[in-house]
This record gives sequence, C-alpha cells and structure tokens, in this order.
Amino acid sequence: MAVATATTGLDPKHNLQTARQAYYDKISKQHMTPLWEVLKNLVTKEPASKCVPALWKFKDAKQLVLEAGEVITAEEAERRVLVLENPGLRGQSRITNSLFAGIQLILPGEVAPAHQHVASAIRFVLDGHGAYTAVEGEKAMMSPGDFILTPNWAPHDHGNTSDQPMLWLDVLDMPTVNHFEASFATHFDDAMQNTAREDGDSLDRYGSGVLPDGAPVALKRSPVINYTYARTRPILERLKKAGDVDKRHGARVRYVNPVTGGWALPTMGAHLALLPAGFKGEPYRSTDGTIFVCAEGGGTTKVGDQVLEWGPNDVFVVPPWMQYSHNAPKESVLFSISDRPMQESLGIWREEN
Ligand SMILES: [Fe+2]
Repeated sequence: MAVATATTGLDPKHNLQTARQAYYDKISKQHMTPLWEVLKNLVTKEPASKCVPALWKFKDAKQLVLEAGEVITAEEAERRVLVLENPGLRGQSRITNSLFAGIQLILPGEVAPAHQHVASAIRFVLDGHGAYTAVEGEKAMMSPGDFILTPNWAPHDHGNTSDQPMLWLDVLDMPTVNHFEASFATHFDDAMQNTAREDGDSLDRYGSGVLPDGAPVALKRSPVINYTYARTRPILERLKKAGDVDKRHGARVRYVNPVTGGWALPTMGAHLALLPAGFKGEPYRSTDGTIFVCAEGGGTTKVGDQVLEWGPNDVFVVPPWMQYSHNAPKESVLFSISDRPMQESLGIWREEN
C-alpha cells in the first residue's frame, strides 16, 4: 500500500474509493449494483415512511369540489373526485403509500357511469341524502356515516336522484394493486346497472345473524354492500353504556365480513369508534398508516409532535408507526380505515401501546 501511495500521490482511502467506484461502474454495465451501498435504506430498523400527518377541512374541500362541479360533469370526468394527496407523497395520487383517498361529488340528476375494476373501494358518506351507489345489482341509498363497499371487480355506478349535492370519501387500494401491476378495468355499455335488488338487501340477508341457506362459507370479501350508520351508530352507544371503551380507541367496532368474521375486504380494514365526552386517549401506534374521518363531534389528535384539530367530516391521516392519541372534549365519532388486513395476512402488522 505504501508503494501505491508513493506511485499515485493519493492517500490509501482515496485509492480505495476510486477502486470501488471503478468496480461499481463495471458491474453497472451488467445491470448490477452493490447491496452494501443501499442496505441500510432497504432494511430499516423501524418503518421509514415518507407519509406525513395531514388534515383536510371539510368546509374547504366541499367548496373546492363544488367548484369542480362548474367545470366538469360527473359523466365527463367518469368520477368527479379531488384526490387527497399526502403532502409527503405529492404527485403519487395517494394518502398513504398503499391507499388512495378522494372526495367525490355527484350533483342532482347526474350519473357516474357503471364500471368495474380490480381495485377495491369503500365510500364513507359525508354530506347529502338520497343519492345512490349501485353495486352488483343492489341500489344502496346513501346517508351520512354509511360505509359502502365496492369489492374487487364488483360492477358499480352512482346516481343522484335527490335535489342536493352528495359528497363522500372514496378510499381505494389502487396504489397496492398498481404496486403488483395487477390492474384491470371494464366499462359497461349502459351507464346504469339493472338494479333488481332493493336498498338494504344484502345487509338484511347477511348481517342479521342468519345467512341464506347454502350461502358460501369462505368468502374473501363481505357480501354486505351498505353498513348503514343507522344500524351501526346505536351499537357504539351500547358499548359506551356498558363501559366497553378502549383506552386508546374508544368504544369501537370493526366492519366485518359476517360470513367469516374477518375484515369486510381483504385489502382494507375499517372501524367506527365513539369517543365519550372528555375522552383522553392513551398513545398508540401501529404499522398501518390510518385515514380518519370525523363523523360527529370534534376534538384533536396528537400525531408525533403535531396536533390535528378536527370537526365534522374533516379527514386526517396518521402515518405508519407514528404515535398518536385522541382527545375529545365532546362526544365524537371517528371512522377509520387502513391497509391492516393486507399486513395481517402477510404477517407483518405490528402495534405498540
Ligand atoms: Fe369505480
């Protein structure tokens, strides 16, 4: 080494770097690269998310999406949606690394035409009454707080036969489907499906403690289309009255596939939680970045060092593995959804209190 230094006039460290770079350039021509240069960023000690905490005020979102109603029709847009882009993931059409979220508007008399796609979707209804989502031939009438499924490849269309605008939150697993490069979609000739099944049909059939005789016993997705707020909200009241209030999450129910007891969808898992007046939640974190919607009330959520203040229909997001705690001076209801079912099925989901 001493000889080499004398020859080149460079110190041994510099020589080593030059030799390594020459080697990297050489293997690069063969489409190879050294793992040791990137290993620390690939196998992190803890989740390293680019997703950041963020909140969208419903008042602002509603105003902006109503303005979109003046420049494009639902039919032209196919879906008139403002994407809620995580500030740490701009340009990627996603609110967390794995999930898409957006605010959709459908005006009186409009139809969002029938289509189907591999990506699963949920709607959480924010504002308006009397519009519908038709899924697999069931016409589900939408009211605030309703949780509506359009599972993988289920034909669906939306229409507004009421006299007021209808707004809801869409959440889809598109970023994950596209991660696997497994997206397919089809459009139908008719804008509206033939809806032979009435509003509430699937909830009555499958969500009432009985099942149609001969119903499949191993469905990957729930057969229920609309989990209405009218049915779910009183259950939270029962939990609260019985004292079944989790110190971190409040009085919380999980939206399930009634056939299996598993999650309603294999890719996205949702909860509805009541935070009693004066609730001061204990800190919690988990590996599933979570989207919240305030269905009732108002309060704050401390996420890392930030405090997000939320009121009715505001949407906010907590990144993976970032500690958070809810605080509700008045009784509040929070809807939440994440990719937890995917992580659980892969055996990688973790939580910490
Ligand atoms: Fe769709």
